[in-house]
This record gives sequence, C-alpha cells and structure tokens, in this order.
Amino acid sequence: MEICFATNNKNKLHEVKALLGNEFHILSLAEIGCHEELPETTGTIAGNSRQKAEYVFSRYGITCFADDSGLQVNALQGAPGVDSAFYAGPQKNDQDNVALLLRNMQHVADRSANFITIITLVKGTNDVSQFEGILNGEITRQTCGTNGFGYDPVFRPAGLSINLAEMSREEKNKISHRAKAVEKLVRFLIGHQTNQ
Ligand code: IMP
Repeated sequence: MEICFATNNKNKLHEVKALLGNEFHILSLAEIGCHEELPETTGTIAGNSRQKAEYVFSRYGITCFADDSGLQVNALQGAPGVDSAFYAGPQKNDQDNVALLLRNMQHVADRSANFITIITLVKGTNDVSQFEGILNGEITRQTCGTNGFGYDPVFRPAGLSINLAEMSREEKNKISHRAKAVEKLVRFLIGHQTNQ
C-alpha cells in the first residue's frame, strides 16, 4: 500500500519507514511530485496537521499523513505552541527561540511544559484519523547538551536528570512525542491492513 508522508524531512521519513516495515510503501512529498509549500494557517497544531494532510490528499489523490509539533509551556498559556518554530521571529532560528523562551521565563517558578505531536491520516474525503503523542517535562534555567534541535537544550523530560539535548538520537526516539504519535499511527495502519 502506497502512503505519502507529507514531509521532505529525511530524518522523519527514515524513522517512520523503519517502524512500518515493508508492508507500506512510504513516499515523500518530492516523490509524489509535490514541490509547493503546504499551507499551515489554522492557528493550531492539530489544525495545521490536518490541513497539510488534506491538502495533499485533495490535490494528489493519495492516502496521506502529516505531522505537526510544538512546545507548550503551562506558565505561558501554552506558548510557543503552534508558533514554536517562529517564536523569536520569521528567521526560524533555534538559538533565538531558546534565548527568548528563557528570557520570558526568567521569573517563572512553574517550569512545567510538554512537547506535543499530532499526526493526521487522511484516507478519504471524510476518512480522517488523528494520533497524539505527548512528552511531559520542564524547562531548565540554562541550556544543557548539544544534540537534537529546537528546544532540546532546555527541555528535561519528567523523571530524568538530563535534558533532551544530552541524549543520543536513539534514546530520544524511545520517549519522544513524535515517536509516541508514530507508534499509534503504525498500530492503526497495521491493524487496518490485517482487517482488510
Ligand atoms: P515540527 O512541526 O516537527 O516541524 O516542529 C515545529 C517546531 O517545534 C520545531 O521547529 C521546534 O522548534 C519545535 N519542536 C518540535 N519537536 C521538537 C523536538 O523534538 N525537540 C525540540 N524542539 C521541537
């Protein structure tokens, strides 16, 4: 079965292909001939995830899934949330985003936060399923570690004494919000395949 993963991010493609095995042929956006920017204008993570998957399905007629993620800080009413990539501005710079977050939380005692990923699978016009993955933790006062990307240097998963940026990619992939959402998607796809 051919399914498009609405991304051109090679790391994400690799991770999902490894989890799905050979029963599903996962195609990137480039492989289905989609070279345009996907719309992300709904203002929510769940909405943008769905918008991207529906865009590809409606134009390319292929079963498709898309993901959208973000960091939600409780004391900041869920910010940066859907704006995580652009928190400090349109330059989409990880270091600027982390610096702004630490500045905005300088006097904040409640450091609790979570990463969330929503994956939307679109198999038909009214056949839409969503899968959520959450990683709870807290924002540290200083950066620790150099691995990963985004807010990894200031995010400490609940129950651990190191930040995401101090973990190997394999360690992070075992607990990450993205991995949890992907696992749910994979379980759904494999279950559905067996039922057919
Ligand atoms: P995306 O939807 O996966 O592209 O994620 C949007 C933004 O959320 C990224 O540009 C990062 O700023 C942030 N983000 C999402 N996942 C992670 C993560 O695993 N670690 C650190 N930052 C992340």
